[in-house]
Amino acid sequence: MAYRSIALDDDGWGVRAIDQRLLPHRFELVRLETVEDAARAITTMLVRGAPLIGATAAYGVALAMRADPTDASLDDAIERLKATRPTAANLRWALDGARGLLDEVAPAARADAAYGFADRVCDEDVARNRAIGEHGLDVLRGLAAAGGGRRLNILTHCNAGWLATVDWGTATAPVYLAHDGGQSVHVWVDETRPRLQGAALTSWELGQHGVPHTLIPDSAAAHLMRRGDVDVVLVGTDRTTATGDVANKIGTYPLALAAADNGVPFYAAVPSPSIDWTLENADLIPIEERDQDEVTSVRGLETAGTGTASVRIAPLDTQAANFAFDVTPAHLVTGLITERGVCRADREALRQLFPERG
Ligand code: MRU
Repeated sequence: MAYRSIALDDDGWGVRAIDQRLLPHRFELVRLETVEDAARAITTMLVRGAPLIGATAAYGVALAMRADPTDASLDDAIERLKATRPTAANLRWALDGARGLLDEVAPAARADAAYGFADRVCDEDVARNRAIGEHGLDVLRGLAAAGGGRRLNILTHCNAGWLATVDWGTATAPVYLAHDGGQSVHVWVDETRPRLQGAALTSWELGQHGVPHTLIPDSAAAHLMRRGDVDVVLVGTDRTTATGDVANKIGTYPLALAAADNGVPFYAAVPSPSIDWTLENADLIPIEERDQDEVTSVRGLETAGTGTASVRIAPLDTQAANFAFDVTPAHLVTGLITERGVCRADREALRQLFPERG
């Protein structure tokens, strides 16, 4: 059963999304009916992943316009959604797009216009990821050929899969195309502490699709690279600067350092809504800090398999820091895989692919 991670519900106005907090142990669809539902779904990570955050925000605006299409309601909806999570550039991209469109539309027509915008955001996300898949496939084929056609070992971090987007995923799209095309691939899946998106979501996705994969502690990745067991590192991004610095899930930067030290190519899959063309200084990327409970406790299926539970792993009086993202500087990035092609991680190469960005 093919699913999009978010879509309009059967009644044509509610929005249904997969509750990713329950995966991989339970597959449940949740219905969003208000802008508050959409905002809370983003903050609590019911939905997560930069492209899906953008799509959910677009539907959040539509739900707000259905309830009240006034200027005040539009302002409130955009402020509410903007305040959810700070790092993913897709959130601002979607809200600026909605604002730009709806400011030009009479209130009576805003709900339809906003739903149309959200549907386009979703359809364009799917097409963009498919294109990233095609360009990434060329990279994987090139690496496989250089390796004499043997199985290609790909390492990924966090979940940049179809669950993190509307469909296909970004970093996973080339993997799905390679696998479906008969290329022998195997994926090392970083568990991705503290919220375990790799263990819970990427492993689940790859398992559902039949792609060979092995789950590893994040700390094992450098060891595998030094042993020569990794042919390429392929990750997503939450925000990439105009100069090619890549912000992604915490733990990505050390992967790039290990890859550079071991001559392993390091690619980031970068859909253009994740590029912040206004930023050249990566230190200005807002890095989300989340609740320390995410570090001091872990969630999982109880051994009896009856339900999920959270268990504390640190002493009760231990404080924790929980940075959700880090920045991989451009000089450690072999290439950016965008929907328009693969380029070096620098300003000039990005502008060549996106000349309209001047
Ligand atoms: O905190 P999350 O789960 O939203 O973080 C997600 C990531 O870091 C992804 O790699 C990124 O958003 C790209 S998703 C295509």
